[in-house]
Amino acid sequence: MSDITDAARAILAFNDRGGYTVPTDALYPFQWNWDSAFVSMGFATFNIDRAYQELERLIEGQWDDGMLPHIVFHVPSDTYFPGPDVWNTHHRHHKKPTTSGITQPPVFGMALRYIYEIALTEGREDVLARTRLLFHAALRSHRWWMKVRDPEKRGLVAILHPWESGSDNSPAWDEALARVSTITKTEICRQDTKHVSAAMRPHHADYQRFIHLVEVYRECKWDPVKQWSAAPFKVADVQMTAILARATADLIWIASHLNLLDEINELSTIHRILLDGLRGRWRNNLRGFVSLDLISGKDIQKPTQAYFIPLIAIELDTYQREAVQDEIERWCNGMIVGVPSTAPFSSDFESKRYWRGPVWAVINWLIVDGLCKNHLAELAAIIEGNTINAIERAGFCEYFDPITGEGLGGNSFSWTAAAYLVLRHRLNNQ
Ligand code: SER
Repeated sequence: MSDITDAARAILAFNDRGGYTVPTDALYPFQWNWDSAFVSMGFATFNIDRAYQELERLIEGQWDDGMLPHIVFHVPSDTYFPGPDVWNTHHRHHKKPTTSGITQPPVFGMALRYIYEIALTEGREDVLARTRLLFHAALRSHRWWMKVRDPEKRGLVAILHPWESGSDNSPAWDEALARVSTITKTEICRQDTKHVSAAMRPHHADYQRFIHLVEVYRECKWDPVKQWSAAPFKVADVQMTAILARATADLIWIASHLNLLDEINELSTIHRILLDGLRGRWRNNLRGFVSLDLISGKDIQKPTQAYFIPLIAIELDTYQREAVQDEIERWCNGMIVGVPSTAPFSSDFESKRYWRGPVWAVINWLIVDGLCKNHLAELAAIIEGNTINAIERAGFCEYFDPITGEGLGGNSFSWTAAAYLVLRHRLNNQ
């Protein structure tokens, strides 16, 4: 085992708070949904039981209607805003931990397959009951997505808050977010800029809108039907839909292993619907997939990493495959490390500000996976190698400046450590 693999494991141990992992100390002091799914895969490379436990702790926060919240507030902390009082979702829970009221990308199903496959190769028959329980939690959450976030049956699931996308201040949301009021009843006490330079974080006006949206949904008492009608921000997101579609395929794989025939049929229907929806979002002129603003009815054409995420779920045709390859190469041209989260030739590009340009190891991990699925192994290997090098050079930071390779945001980041472990594990097993 290399020293760096050792260091990655040490970060997961350092951020362990008793069976769940915080994304990083202080800046994000609770359990985050998609962070934990990625982290569980990192754990699976060396500790299967701890990998399962990460997902088990996450579903402690699952709502009765199936939603997996984006934050589970297992224990109090005053180093993050907004905390449980701002969300005020307590009425949904009795013996469960308090949570936020929105969700995050459903990487969970992907993670469950990944860890179950490793468990099987290790001959761990004893994980069957744990797998079954987590599978059913994931299935309930996929039903929630289809019912609550695609009620108009487009084959695309919608986000009602940029935080749900995981790409909070992406230029993709600028136009839709500009319609949201900046007026809030809640006093905005940002903690993030105490931990990380303000130049790397969303602007104050973004936060005003983020909190305004929380207040709108809180006033709906977190009722999903009321929220859908009241939402001043509603985007059918290709990144979210692609992750859901891929996770659905992974759940079908698990259901086949567990011999759950009804579930295979149900999930196969969901999978077909999502793939049809995604295929309709390809744009030849942009050489990528675009989200749909459900309030304006317009395509969101801003060039962000979301263009390429559908590769994890979809088999491209030859024309699309070549177009995506050219486009990713164009975005990476002249960069020390790609793939930037916003195209460097875009006027919105900022190399150091959160989702407006920096490179994220977990996004590269998804892109590498999508490229391999689409027979673009050479480009995948380049991105994989660059990601590993960036981490080895700059450390396990939250994200990287694509122009300089500098590490940015929070330090000792769990999902960057997990990405390193998983990418290295792939390389070692090739
Ligand atoms: N990513 C958001 C934040 O920065 C919350 O999920 O606080």
